[in-house]
Amino acid sequence: MEKTALLEMKGITKKFGTVLANDHIDLQLYPGEIHALLGENGSGKSTLMNILLGIYKPNSGEMLYKGEKGQIKTPKHAAALGIGMVHQHFALIPTLTVAENIFLSLDHCSFILDQQKMENKIREYSEQFSLEVDPGAKVWQLSVGEQQRVEIMKLLCRNCEILVLDEPTAVLTPQEAGEMFKTLRKMAEHGKSIIFISHKMNEVMEHADRITVLKNGRVTDRMLASDADIDRMAKAVVGERDIEKITIRSKGKTGELLIDAKDLRVLNDKGLVALHDISFQLKAGEIFAIAGVAGSGQRELAEALAGLRKITSGRILMKGNEITKTNIRGRVSKGISFIPEDRLKMGLIPGMNMKENTVLKEFRGKAYSRGGILLSKAIRALTEKHVSDHDIKHGGLDLPVSLMSGGNQQKLLIAREINGNPELIIAAYPVRGLDIGATAAIHRTLLEQRNRGACVLLISEELDEIFELSDRVAVLCGGKLMGIRNTSETDYEEIGRLMSGESA
Ligand SMILES: Nc1ncnc2c1ncn2[C@@H]1O[C@H](COP(=O)(O)OP(=O)(O)OP(=O)(O)O)[C@@H](O)[C@H]1O
Ligand SMILES: [Mg+2]
Repeated sequence: MEKTALLEMKGITKKFGTVLANDHIDLQLYPGEIHALLGENGSGKSTLMNILLGIYKPNSGEMLYKGEKGQIKTPKHAAALGIGMVHQHFALIPTLTVAENIFLSLDHCSFILDQQKMENKIREYSEQFSLEVDPGAKVWQLSVGEQQRVEIMKLLCRNCEILVLDEPTAVLTPQEAGEMFKTLRKMAEHGKSIIFISHKMNEVMEHADRITVLKNGRVTDRMLASDADIDRMAKAVVGERDIEKITIRSKGKTGELLIDAKDLRVLNDKGLVALHDISFQLKAGEIFAIAGVAGSGQRELAEALAGLRKITSGRILMKGNEITKTNIRGRVSKGISFIPEDRLKMGLIPGMNMKENTVLKEFRGKAYSRGGILLSKAIRALTEKHVSDHDIKHGGLDLPVSLMSGGNQQKLLIAREINGNPELIIAAYPVRGLDIGATAAIHRTLLEQRNRGACVLLISEELDEIFELSDRVAVLCGGKLMGIRNTSETDYEEIGRLMSGESA
């Protein structure tokens, strides 16, 4: 690795009100390296990267880029310098094609989209960096993984030298993540420098060259990936306190039949069949996992159960009562709660504050309103309880949740959804974006909910998580139910086979 840094951030400090998000952070980035940023939820990772991108202005500190001192004033300025970022929430226009989206993101001298030229460029980079994108496809047709590739392609077409990716693998399947890292490595081999944020220690060790760990806005450790091990990283992430281990897996008694789903047929957003007449039963007091590669019908299944998606044929009974046509509000009042995969689109209202989001679903209830007037004391008390129960970091209960860190938004959403003892908790990728400490805490919470008698429908791509938590596991492949097993009587291999569509 070359000695001179391409980028040096020195003493970067950023305050938001009373929150010290970055506290004298130093970071060096070398040409051709892959650098991982690790750290607890709310430790200041995204903030630091937003400063690098010119989105936020630091209160103090300086930056040297290619040996020259200067501040990056705006994202446009960053782009002109060759610095770009893939945010967690993509900024693509769904009705346009991939090539059109990329064209729009460029700073042009020519105003006319030369379709052929653009597409050739995209194909060239596709080949060079093993980054598969179809220039002619409309963005709305793309999976999340494909959309992310378009975002990366945008940065390549802009000739970025520094590429920042904020939790890129949180939304990817393990296979897609592997492909993405191959692409990043190729880019590094071409001399580009990459910073990626992640909570997954294994992937950090495997794919980064160097690792910087943040906690409470400060750097707590930096190391070569070759010197890293899980214990050392965990210590730097959470401090001396131990990560709780889930050892109690006391088998709860499974209770009564809660949900009886018969021959469910559901369409996806494109109007194609997403679930092919599937049937299953959920019992009180169990964690029922749904395994499958992304896009196998998990989203549609969760939404159909939550009352957000029309059921084309088939029925759902809850404790013997038909709820097939019951709307979302009706299902909430029957005790169905939903932790969706897309928290900012479906779970939280980003522009509303923490208190408003906390009572979003029950503001009509007696506990939080009288005669149409919200009881602000009770709402504040409930929000404060969530904050302390789940160790939620925030800058103030009155601030919009869009200003919270990603992981802390997720914690607030989960706190709200398990409040009030629901009977069925539909949890889609519940620990996405959570740090190791918070992941363990949410897993414990889900087990507690099960032991209390709730049914948890856990949608997950991580087989480790499924085997650790679930009592039964169902496998979806291409919208078909490949099988249901008792978790204690199956293994990774069998589930893997079912996931790839081999029937037992
Ligand atoms: N625009 C903002 N206004 C107010 N507070 C903010 C703003 N952006 C971030 N913060 C606060 O700064 C702290 C650091 O947030 P940041 O988003 O950098 O964390 P993070 O390390 O990326 O966490 P996560 O892993 O959860 O994404 C948090 O306490 C957050 O609430
Ligand atoms: Mg973040």
